Amino acid sequence: MTHPDSVERLRGFVVDFSRLVTDETRTAVLLQRGADLLGALVAKDDWLPDAYAMPHPQHYQQYLLHCDPLERFSLVSFVWGPGQRTPVHDHRVWGLVGVLRGGEIETRYIRNTAGRPEADASEALHPGDVARLSQEDGDLHRVANAFQDRVSVSIHVYGGNIGAVRRATYDAETGAEKPFISGYANSSVPNLWNRSLERAPA
Ligand code: FE2
Repeated sequence: MTHPDSVERLRGFVVDFSRLVTDETRTAVLLQRGADLLGALVAKDDWLPDAYAMPHPQHYQQYLLHCDPLERFSLVSFVWGPGQRTPVHDHRVWGLVGVLRGGEIETRYIRNTAGRPEADASEALHPGDVARLSQEDGDLHRVANAFQDRVSVSIHVYGGNIGAVRRATYDAETGAEKPFISGYANSSVPNLWNRSLERAPA
């Protein structure tokens, strides 16, 4: 059940994040402040419309919630069916991952001397947690639903229109790189701009 103010909450985040990417050019500071904004957004699980929280039986879903018109950032809901996970992949832009519902296991990968990705640290992420991704940290990870019997949902922000970024997945065994562009599962986004109700005469 979404809260009556859910669209307002989402719009408020979009407005605040738009200001942030306009005012802040230092990536480290942007990630810090952006993580605070995303942490506040995922602190309450009452705003994401059901249409953007629908799992797919075979693979995880990636729904666009908002893309900055200058493609400086995008906001996406990831929906993980039971046991679903990504391949090892990179992003080539900065990223923030906030868990809204359920839980995730994030495993970071580092390149060995042969250039092959090897699993490094794993972290369990719980509702309200926010993880950061940047080029400086190697930009390689794999994300999995922490649960085998329930759906998990996370909200991601990326430093570009992530569905259109040319990036890559990596074979976990051989390290072979495979180019991919993820796209989005949805063809329409939440309407953040129908403000007629709040402006109606009392
Ligand atoms: Fe990722």
